Amino acid sequence: MPEHRIDTESAHSARIYDYILGGDDNYPADREAGDAMCREWPALPVHMRANRDFMHRAVRYLAAEAGIRQFLDIGTGIPTPPNLHEIAQAAAPDARVVYVDNDPLVLSLSQGLLSGTPEGRTVYVEADLRDPADILGAPGSGRPSTCRSRSR
Ligand SMILES: C[S@@+](CC[C@H](N)C(=O)[O-])C[C@H]1O[C@@H](n2cnc3c(N)ncnc32)[C@H](O)[C@@H]1O
Repeated sequence: MPEHRIDTESAHSARIYDYILGGDDNYPADREAGDAMCREWPALPVHMRANRDFMHRAVRYLAAEAGIRQFLDIGTGIPTPPNLHEIAQAAAPDARVVYVDNDPLVLSLSQGLLSGTPEGRTVYVEADLRDPADILGAPGSGRPSTCRSRSR
């Protein structure tokens, strides 16, 4: 299959996660797999939601009370509002956020992650957690600039 084509016939981990969280970026195969997982682990949706809620609370605290202005979100997943930059920049409009994921599907859906404030910066980098030099060296990951765009 050509690299740019997205296989919607097979279940995909990020889309299963999106489905269980109540998102719209999923297909029948993802929903079938998600339903099977939830039959085995009925509390899974609650755990996933709790994970998101923790991220919201932690980022809100870090931006609003701890003075943190740079956030690196590795393993971003499919955009799920409110996304990290929306929480951080609501508290601190100048907060700078770099999202990282190694899944081309997430890259293709990352437009929803690039609506940051003019004062801050929101960047998406396609890179692997296991290659930190690649992440830190990616355009947009380093020093502040005025650009707000995907790295590629
Ligand atoms: C379960 S989702 C997490 C979504 C979001 N961070 C959250 O907590 O709601 C995990 C994400 O990690 C990404 N991922 C897995 N292995 C990775 C790696 N080696 N480098 C970068 N991203 C990775 C997957 O592509 C997937 O989008």
